[in-house]
Amino acid sequence: MNETITLLGLESSCDDTAAAVVRLSDGRGTILSSVVAGQTELHAAFGGVVPEIAARAHVEKIDLCVEAALEQAGLGLGDIDGIAVTAGPGLIGGVLAGVMCAKGLSAATGLPLIGVNHLAGHALTPRLTDALSFPYLMLLVSGGHCQFLIARAPDRFTRLGGTIDDAPGEAFDKTAKLLGLPQPGGPMVEVAARDGDPKRFRFPRPLLDRPGSDMSFSGLKTALLRVRDQLVDEKGGLTVQDRADLCAGFQAAVADVLAEKARRAIADYLSDAPAEPVLAVAGGVAANATIRAALEQVCHATCLRFVAPPLALCTDNAAMIAWAGIERFRLGLFDGPDLAARPRWPLDLSQPALVGSGKKGAKA
Ligand code: KG4
Ligand code: ZN
Repeated sequence: MNETITLLGLESSCDDTAAAVVRLSDGRGTILSSVVAGQTELHAAFGGVVPEIAARAHVEKIDLCVEAALEQAGLGLGDIDGIAVTAGPGLIGGVLAGVMCAKGLSAATGLPLIGVNHLAGHALTPRLTDALSFPYLMLLVSGGHCQFLIARAPDRFTRLGGTIDDAPGEAFDKTAKLLGLPQPGGPMVEVAARDGDPKRFRFPRPLLDRPGSDMSFSGLKTALLRVRDQLVDEKGGLTVQDRADLCAGFQAAVADVLAEKARRAIADYLSDAPAEPVLAVAGGVAANATIRAALEQVCHATCLRFVAPPLALCTDNAAMIAWAGIERFRLGLFDGPDLAARPRWPLDLSQPALVGSGKKGAKA
C-alpha cells in the first residue's frame, strides 16, 4: 500500500504538553518530530499533579509545542493531512486545552479533526515501533494506568483486567514518599532496591487468590507504612539497609503480581489462537528492570514475543496520538467541531468501569 498520511498530534491529558508529526508511508510509520514539555517543577511543591495548574500550563504551552513540532519536522500546516488530539480520558482542563487548540487549527485550515483515546494511543504504539499485527496483548503500566488489553483493531480493544485502586507507578511514588526518597519515586525505589534483600520483608501479593487479571496495589503501600513505623518505633529510624530492603521487598511484590496476572491474561489471550502471539508493554513502570525481567520470563515460558517500545514512546507523548490518529484516518473515523473532551473514556465499553483514580484523573 503506497498511501502516505502525515498527521499532527496533540497530547495534554495529564502533566505533559506534547505535539508531534508522524507520517505513514509504504505501510510504516515514521516520527518526523516529537516535542514534550513537562510540568514536573510546577507541581513539585504539591506532591502530585494539581489539575488547575496543569490546565493553565497546557494552555500556555500547547501552541508553542505545535510550532516546535512543525518546525522540527520541517513542515508547515499545508503539508499536514489532519489533526489528531487526545480527547480523553484524563484531567478535563488539560484535555480541553488540547481539544480547543486542535479544533481551532482544524477550523482555520479545513484539515480533518480526529479525537484519540489516550489509552488507545499507548496501546497502538507497538504498531508504530514494531509494526505488530492484531491481535496482540498489551499491558499499560504507569503512574495513571494499569490494565491488560487485547488490541484487536485500531478502535477495538478487550480489557481483560486492571487495577481496582492505585496504579503501580502511584504505588512506587507513594513508597518513595514514605521512605523520604525524591519524586518521581519509581526510579529512586529501583535504585535503592539494588542493594536490598527482597526476602527480608514479605509484602502481600493482593488479589492473587482471586481468578482473573484484576489487580490492587493500594494495600501494598499500607503494608510498607506499617513495617516502616514498626522499624522506626524499634530503632528510632531507618538505616540505609532497611530502606534498601523495604524497596526491594516492595518491588518484588509488584513484579510478582504483574507476572502472575500477566500469566492469566496470556492464557485468556491465547484462547483466541493468535497467529503471532505478543505481549507488549507501555508506561513508565515498564522501565523497571525487575518488572521487565519478570514479564520477559513469563513470555519466554509461554512462547510469546515480548515487545517494549523505547521509553520515550512508552511514557506520555504526542507521537502515539498522531499514530493512533493515522490508524483512525485510514478507517475514515473523523470527528466534527462537536468533538467532546471526556474525563472518562473506557477503551472497552463492555467491561465495568474501573473505580480507581490516578494522577491522570479517572482510570477509565
Ligand atoms: O508513563 P508515565 O511517564 O506517566 C504516566 O502515565 O503516569 O509513568 C510515570 C510513572 C511514575 O509513577 C514513575 O514513578 C513510574 O512511572 N516509573 C517507574 C520507573 N520509572 C518510572 N516505576 C518503577 N521503576 C522505574 N524504573
Ligand atoms: Zn499515559
